[in-house]
Amino acid sequence: MKELFDSTTINGMTLRNRFVRSATWEGMCEDNGRPTPRLASCYSDLAAGGVGLIITGYAFVRPDGKQMPGKMGIHTDDFAPDIKSLTEAVHSHGGRICIQLVHAGGQTTAKTVGRRPLAPSAVKVGQFPEEPGAMTQGDIDGIIAAFGDGARRAKEYGFDAVQLHAAHGYLINQFLSPLTNQRTDGYGGPVENRCRFLLEVYRSVRAAVGPDFPVLVKLNGSDNLEGGLDIKDAVYAARLLDKEEIDAIEVSGGTSASGDKTPVRTKIDSPEKEAYNAGLAGEIRMAVSCPVMAVGGFRSLEVIRGALGDGIDYISMSRPFIREPRLVERWKKGDHAPARCISCNGCFRPGLKEGGIYCVVEKKEAEERANKG
Ligand SMILES: Cc1cc2nc3c(=O)[nH]c(=O)nc-3n(C[C@H](O)[C@H](O)[C@H](O)COP(=O)(O)O)c2cc1C
Repeated sequence: MKELFDSTTINGMTLRNRFVRSATWEGMCEDNGRPTPRLASCYSDLAAGGVGLIITGYAFVRPDGKQMPGKMGIHTDDFAPDIKSLTEAVHSHGGRICIQLVHAGGQTTAKTVGRRPLAPSAVKVGQFPEEPGAMTQGDIDGIIAAFGDGARRAKEYGFDAVQLHAAHGYLINQFLSPLTNQRTDGYGGPVENRCRFLLEVYRSVRAAVGPDFPVLVKLNGSDNLEGGLDIKDAVYAARLLDKEEIDAIEVSGGTSASGDKTPVRTKIDSPEKEAYNAGLAGEIRMAVSCPVMAVGGFRSLEVIRGALGDGIDYISMSRPFIREPRLVERWKKGDHAPARCISCNGCFRPGLKEGGIYCVVEKKEAEERANKG
């Protein structure tokens, strides 16, 4: 029986428990992607709070793959000392840190990236702010190489693992989805072709870091969109990666256009609404031999233990750690009350407007307490 505080190993990376901080854009980098000391302090708090594995907010592998402001860049060696300070901060508290690598593809604007955004096909879908340009073979080769270069830098800078962001409607997901991939060459059409870009990115990353370094992927079990990636194709992609010795698959679901089934659902206020991607993760769990992480709406130990009992290997959370960076420590010490996050998504706003995310509810309540006191 899996226990939450088991120590486990993923391809040589030892983790002190089964809690993962899922990738969370923090908005704490300069415009060019250089991390600020505020980001090191954010990771330091999470590591001190006992999270087993911290996955960074998405880091762009090329400037034309940027999206939100304040996102980290791993496209250049210029930020080496700043990025090394992040990994050192985590290691000094006995934690482990994985960088999430992304290219936003068509899910960004020309204003953000200084050119027409690139995507598998020139189609305007719900999650794209504008119509992107279709990628040429040269664009494809260049981005695949950029993922490899980013992974090589990450290993050099002390990260314990890398994760490919293949979920939430970003470029790799755009290739997987029939909605955004309408190509007629070897990258489009049947599922094996739609998986080709993901596989080539994975191989480029694996070649850059070698066989003994953990490479993870965050995959949508479903895009929750009519005509988008479905669980059948997601299982196919997961099996391909498993055969090529991916080290773990984190299962999410949805894109920003998926209505009430986005990756970041609101109003998770009862156990029934928790763990909203656990079913998808369970289907992928049955199809692969590598560890599977589930993310989306985990809030209570009861539901978390249930997911472990159903075969999920790691429990990944984002918003609960924004409100309570020390949540794992709290639970370990015996305070088993559910995470205090109310899933309002208010945390995005200060990331956009104040140079970094924080829990707006926690801040308001702390101010009220201070005023009363
Ligand atoms: C502020 C914020 C930023 C996020 N940034 C990322 C990101 O960079 N990469 C990613 O894969 N998911 C990102 N997510 C989604 C989370 O990783 C997670 O999949 C989602 O929030 C559901 O988990 P939760 O209910 O534990 O928050 C973000 C979520 C939030 C709230």
